[in-house]
Amino acid sequence: MKIFIVGMGYVGLVNAACLAEMGHKVCGADINKEKIDKLERGRCPIYEPGLQEIIEKNLKSGNLTFQIGVDKNINKFDMVMIAVGTPEREMDGRADLFYVGETAREIAKHCVKKELLVVGKSTVPIGTANQIRESLAIYNRKKTKFYVGSNPETLREGKAIYDFMNPDRIIIGGDKKVRDALLKLYEKINAKKIVTNARSAEMIKLASNFMLALRVSATNILAQLCEATGADIEEVMKGVGMDRRIGPHFLRAGIGYGGSCFPKDTKSIKSIAEHYRLDTSLFDSVMKINAEQRRWLCQKVEEMTLFTLKNKKIAVWGLAFKPNTDDIREAPSIDIIKWLTKEGALVSVYDPAANIKKIFGGKIRHCKDKYEAIKDVEILLILTEWEEFREADLARVKKMMLIPKIVDGRNIFDPKAVKKLGFEYTGMGRI
Ligand code: UGA
Repeated sequence: MKIFIVGMGYVGLVNAACLAEMGHKVCGADINKEKIDKLERGRCPIYEPGLQEIIEKNLKSGNLTFQIGVDKNINKFDMVMIAVGTPEREMDGRADLFYVGETAREIAKHCVKKELLVVGKSTVPIGTANQIRESLAIYNRKKTKFYVGSNPETLREGKAIYDFMNPDRIIIGGDKKVRDALLKLYEKINAKKIVTNARSAEMIKLASNFMLALRVSATNILAQLCEATGADIEEVMKGVGMDRRIGPHFLRAGIGYGGSCFPKDTKSIKSIAEHYRLDTSLFDSVMKINAEQRRWLCQKVEEMTLFTLKNKKIAVWGLAFKPNTDDIREAPSIDIIKWLTKEGALVSVYDPAANIKKIFGGKIRHCKDKYEAIKDVEILLILTEWEEFREADLARVKKMMLIPKIVDGRNIFDPKAVKKLGFEYTGMGRI
């Protein structure tokens, strides 16, 4: 099929590259000229394992092209996917549909075909596909028949290519013509396909992210309870996850969820409930517990510090909101480092992929190596569970630190083993 994708952010770009890899002809459009220039030169603007190679390969084969903005070129395609950003509105946490609206208008304006399939890929409030349909009809002058649907993306950052090729399910909603076309588009992918109406498809995406965020917050509140009662959250969740009705995923305690999806989508689903005057207490609790985890870690640092944090050297390992990405959006590390610097601590940080120079500039020390960051420090904080931290030589770490103390915000180490090596150590909900 010939697919035109609007928005070369995370969602749009991964989809464009993977659909091209599957043999479809794909054009990716974005209003950001700099980004398109880079892409046309085969350079991937985001950190995502494997993506660069797929882009290069499909640019060469001609399956993948890029262009600036939406124009009459869309008439050469069977389907347009809308994958533009839907950032959170500061005033009320609702998803901002400005870019979706602009894109629908542009598609309508340039479309002169008899019919066109238009699919929403971005995570959006319920009813957005219907608004897209209305907008297309209003702004189109050529009496094009638009068929509209929703095919929300379910990719995890850092594992996006794998998730695209091996999804648990593909969510397909909307007009029959769109549903049939999407079934055809993904026919080579061996996954369950859930075919429903556009509103339910939009809701499945938001509800899935909320259920996962809920599990993380439930685990984190249990971690607090474990620590208070002398139980170990890692052992507890191992046992809980062995119940097949519950399952083992998203039961890791720590400093809470971050990223561009869970924080935004929990606020978005709450604002929808609020709009319909429904009970929002469960959504509120999930968000409150998540924020509390960051404060809990700060409290642990305070308890471990002699007298005051002022002028104390503190190291941070891990800045990204999770491993295998350089994404720092809503990363717990930002709030925690802000607090450390406010308290007057001398902070040195290291992450294998992410950097926070734009936020903190010269206020903190940005290191190129994990060992460089810990030289003469009094406490080491683990804020992202990168594999290279698990593999660290702890004897070397101990020698390099001024005082061997670790606050492990992601429970990557075994408390007994670390304490045996002579560290003062605390995890999140562990004994
Ligand atoms: C999430 C969903 O997993 C994807 O299915 C979805 O497509 C995507 O959002 C989206 O809406 O675009 P992502 O944000 O990449 O993907 O990250 P996850 O791997 O789901 O992790 C989310 C957060 O939960 C991370 O901060 C992670 O550290 C945290 N987490 C995860 C925990 O604290 N504990 C866990 O056990 C699991």
